[in-house]
Amino acid sequence: MWTLRLLTVLLLAACVLGGAVPGKPPVDEEEHMHPDLQRNTRTRARIIEGEDTQDYWLSASKAHILEKLSYVRNEKRAKNIILFLGDGMGLATLAAARSYIGGEEQKLSFEEFPYTGLSKTYCVDKIVPDSASTSTSYLCGVKANYGTIGVNAHVKRGDCQAMADTNNHVFSVGKWAMDAGKAAGLVTTTRVTHASPAGVYAHTADREWENNAVLEEACGDLAEGLDDIAVQLIHGEVGGKLKVILGGGKRSFYDPEFYEKGRRTDGRNLVAEFEALAEGNTFVKTQKKLLKVNVTETDRLLGLFSKSHMHYHVEQLADPENNEPTLEEMTEKAIEMLQKEENGYFLFVEGGKIDISHHDTMARIALDETAEFSKAIKRARELTNLEDTLIVVTSDHSHTFSVGGYQARGSDIFGEAESLGTDGKPYLTLSYANGKSFDQYYDTEAHERIDPTSLLSEDTAQLFPATAPLESETHGGEDVGVFASGPWAHLFTGVYEQNTIPHMLAFAACVGDGKTACD
Ligand SMILES: *[C@@H]1O[C@H](CO)[C@@H](O)[C@H](O)[C@H]1NC(C)=O
Ligand SMILES: [Zn+2]
Repeated sequence: MWTLRLLTVLLLAACVLGGAVPGKPPVDEEEHMHPDLQRNTRTRARIIEGEDTQDYWLSASKAHILEKLSYVRNEKRAKNIILFLGDGMGLATLAAARSYIGGEEQKLSFEEFPYTGLSKTYCVDKIVPDSASTSTSYLCGVKANYGTIGVNAHVKRGDCQAMADTNNHVFSVGKWAMDAGKAAGLVTTTRVTHASPAGVYAHTADREWENNAVLEEACGDLAEGLDDIAVQLIHGEVGGKLKVILGGGKRSFYDPEFYEKGRRTDGRNLVAEFEALAEGNTFVKTQKKLLKVNVTETDRLLGLFSKSHMHYHVEQLADPENNEPTLEEMTEKAIEMLQKEENGYFLFVEGGKIDISHHDTMARIALDETAEFSKAIKRARELTNLEDTLIVVTSDHSHTFSVGGYQARGSDIFGEAESLGTDGKPYLTLSYANGKSFDQYYDTEAHERIDPTSLLSEDTAQLFPATAPLESETHGGEDVGVFASGPWAHLFTGVYEQNTIPHMLAFAACVGDGKTACD
């Protein structure tokens, strides 16, 4: 893999000095402050035009109220549903991403949606969940155990026998939609067999069982009669009917006989099996081929663009040979595929690498992936009709990521706070409660922090500080936001359990066997 190239720091443009700060001493008096503070010219506040006047805030508030009053509840049946999932996209990530895209006063595309709520993310056996248990929750409508997908809480992680009992299987809103005559599809930047997308179609006691090799190793004789996640995607009751599947993860679909990095050990080539299922089934593995797909000639579309997860957007940009599509491009093609459907569709779209960059404490990348996710949603809203398409944007869980005080407005969000710690050293605005970066930022021999500003760089792969040493930074347990636009979007307000989400989607689209808007 190539090295991550320096990200052009667009923010610098936005961070130029903005003049005097009200209530602060003029610049020459600052000379007497701690010399470390002088070093950082970015600490002087930028003033957004008008923000220093009372009228600015009063008229913005009035405009907001008028906008709220103008909302008309759309109680039409939702023909189409798109569920966007920013994996690991907690509220602190959203706040920091606004600074990243241009300033604290900015909004991500989905923050313009008229209705918002909070989703409680804990799972049946843990306070802080993972992406498997949560996908069961926000897709299948029941909370489950950590590490399990598409099965109820009778199944503990790794319990092969309980997984075999189909009474324990639960189905996603994707299946409910297909049962009602709609089409369904999924898009992700991770492996298509990874935890979040697998919630659309799989039933497994362990999220790791993406191919036969890991499943057989874990279950031994019990593996007979159980399908790994990739087989469930190609041949399963739900996976076998999806109209569009786009993402990464080729390795779980091939025996090395067909693809040298393949991880299957059963001599199978699931991509060839997919193509052989029907004439109109099309497989693509590059951005160029994807963009050329003629949807009128394609009945079902499978796109696998990388061995494992797809690359970060910044890596794609830095690679002159890049042939992976962006999340926005995949979303657009998926919508084109599904718009052919007379009865409408359910589409699941995951920005899956926000989570993965946070696990590595790579805050710059996490915010860039969040910005990419926001672009895909903007495009989806442009391509669809507000009257008949419900778009809901949420996350599965948060991270231990935090935005600490107190930088001046307009500062480089990746820089240091204005004051010093009690150890006389600066600290960064962005940090994590735990993670692998601990060692980089702590001198374990001297038992003191290393000045974090000495490690600051513009390398996109830079790690941000963590308080406790952990190989992989953990998820966080606070609620995540839900943002809704389109028919019945007003249902998504308030504070509710995460597993309520698919029931509200089903209500709006009149699918599933619960109460619906058509009753
Ligand atoms: C797509 O295929 C249809 C049917 O074969 C054809 O009429 C149409 O011109 C094609 N569109 C493009 C952009 O090639
Ligand atoms: Zn995660």
